[in-house]
Amino acid sequence: PGVIPTGRMDVVPHEELSPEEKAKRLAAYAAVDEHVKDFHKVLGIGSGSTVPYVVERLCQPPHCYANSDRWYVPTGFQSKELIVKAGLNLGDVDQFPTIDVTIDGADEVDDELNAIKGGGACQLREKVLAEAATHFIIVADSRKDSHVLGQTWKQGVPIEVAPFAWAKVFVNLQKMGCEKPTLRMGKMKAGPVVTDNGNFVIDAVFSEPYMRDPAELLHRIKMLTGVLEVGLFVGMAEAAYFGYPDGTVMAR
Ligand code: 5RP
Repeated sequence: PGVIPTGRMDVVPHEELSPEEKAKRLAAYAAVDEHVKDFHKVLGIGSGSTVPYVVERLCQPPHCYANSDRWYVPTGFQSKELIVKAGLNLGDVDQFPTIDVTIDGADEVDDELNAIKGGGACQLREKVLAEAATHFIIVADSRKDSHVLGQTWKQGVPIEVAPFAWAKVFVNLQKMGCEKPTLRMGKMKAGPVVTDNGNFVIDAVFSEPYMRDPAELLHRIKMLTGVLEVGLFVGMAEAAYFGYPDGTVMAR
């Protein structure tokens, strides 16, 4: 029947993965198997260390049979590389402002499927792709499963800011009650992290009362001039898949 475009991915044997990596792979595979349908023509691909397993699954049967006429939209440099290296069709949001399914990782997910995202500084594009998607699905290992945001992810809410405005936003956040805003620095501490969009990231730690109402907190931070996006994803996810080291996956 001709050549089936399966995509190219090197797959590490499952037994060679650490328990955490196994958990991420199982969550990603379960989400793809449940939510990606043959008729889906545009998929959003998120960022982080769980997402490579999403692409890996999409390159395997039966999903790979749809790859030749399906488009993949990345949330940043890393996922763009993943898509290109897997030999999949690379698209962008201006071509595809409506996406069938976006699958992405998360730093923490609460009981209501609200999430903190942006540990990899991709929150602006991630939120655009989450909002553009008919179905937004989260994949993570069990350490991300939480009751209230801020319980396990102690680094704070990632906030993408225009470089020109970062110091002003910093002061605004302190006045709002943020315990500890931090301008995210690069690994060598030689300068701030710069996002794929050329912006800076402030990580803002808020105490539990603020985190118990993520919708209100999101609204207040977003109103600050200079803020481009906030890594609080409130009411966006349709489902979340958590992989456990014992090989089970819990879907919520
Ligand atoms: C990047 C993100 C990631 O999805 C998040 O940090 C989770 O990554 P991982 O799967 O490596 O735990 O939001 O901005």
